[in-house]
Amino acid sequence: MLRISNFDDWIDYFYGWQKDIGLDAPEFREYKFEAKYGQLPHNEIEFGDYKGQLRWKTVMHIPDQRIRDAAMNLIVYQGDTEFASVEQQRNLFETAPSRYDYLSLVRVMTEEMRHGWQMSHLLITQFGRSGRIEAQKLLERRAYTDDRLLGAFNESVENWLDFYTYTQFVDRDGKFQLTMLSYSAFEPLAQSMLPMLKEESFHLGTGNNGLRRIVQAGKIPTAIMQRYFNKWLPTSFDLFGTDHSSSAHWAYVWGLKGRYNEREAGPEVDKENLNDHARQLYREECVKLTELINKLIPEEQPRLRVPDIRFNRQIGRYAGQYYTVEGEQLTAQEYAAYLPTVLPTAEDKEALRSIFKEKDWIVPKKEEL
Ligand SMILES: [Fe+2]
Ligand SMILES: [Fe+2]
Repeated sequence: MLRISNFDDWIDYFYGWQKDIGLDAPEFREYKFEAKYGQLPHNEIEFGDYKGQLRWKTVMHIPDQRIRDAAMNLIVYQGDTEFASVEQQRNLFETAPSRYDYLSLVRVMTEEMRHGWQMSHLLITQFGRSGRIEAQKLLERRAYTDDRLLGAFNESVENWLDFYTYTQFVDRDGKFQLTMLSYSAFEPLAQSMLPMLKEESFHLGTGNNGLRRIVQAGKIPTAIMQRYFNKWLPTSFDLFGTDHSSSAHWAYVWGLKGRYNEREAGPEVDKENLNDHARQLYREECVKLTELINKLIPEEQPRLRVPDIRFNRQIGRYAGQYYTVEGEQLTAQEYAAYLPTVLPTAEDKEALRSIFKEKDWIVPKKEEL
């Protein structure tokens, strides 16, 4: 049932959602949520069939109903991830290792809510009744009842190792998505991305620094960290979508969503493999960062690695296939025995629970937020 007739109604619904998922940190009450639209470098469409024409200032300027539908769909998916991530992170407050980490968590969650707010503002101000329906639904699905739109956003974030691995890898996927949308022909969508990207970079930094600080403290065995990498990275690869995706193809042709490196990549475009192209660039970035973290690991501990792109995938041409973290193929039977050994185990969680009791598992960070 549609309960929202304007953005003010949606705001009431939003505070209801906050309450429903149990957010009561005092810091959330002080934050003033608002939609922010940034300044684009120019107002011409950058790629696709409409290249060189003026960007579409409102949904009414979009020349084709199919393009309007595709634009709305992109916004819905983006908005869904924002609220989902807050739901996933909602239980970490009491176990924060320090005031700094607590405030980082508050900031990340607040900004994710603002991103969801931003997407809802676009839906409601641009897309009429169907936009209002979708903006309402963004607050009705729940990560913990498994009905968020994308797999990674229904996984559970149980502890602070999850949180740092998540912000390092899942938020980094977010940076890729936002960047690709920042070149959009639909002007308010592209404009939305600029402030969001600034905020997102803090989330990635929180993840990367968090993992570095954990390794520096030397209390959590890297074998356990590796199993958390194995949990979050394949599902992050999945977030880039299917191989040979026709919706990615059309989003490009219509100028709605560019390549991650659109402004440097040149005119030659492999439109059949857009998702895979972004996925590869993303994996390369993850590999580089992981190599830097590895430099902090003492000799006797195993290094961390980014799993092979084929390991434990649920989407794309490797979905349901049997590959190890290193990319070797197994039989179905071998794989069934193998998989539980490379994902976080009950013993890992038990070990982490006792490690987390001491606050020395992560080196302190004195920086002010
Ligand atoms: Fe976000
Ligand atoms: Fe984020």
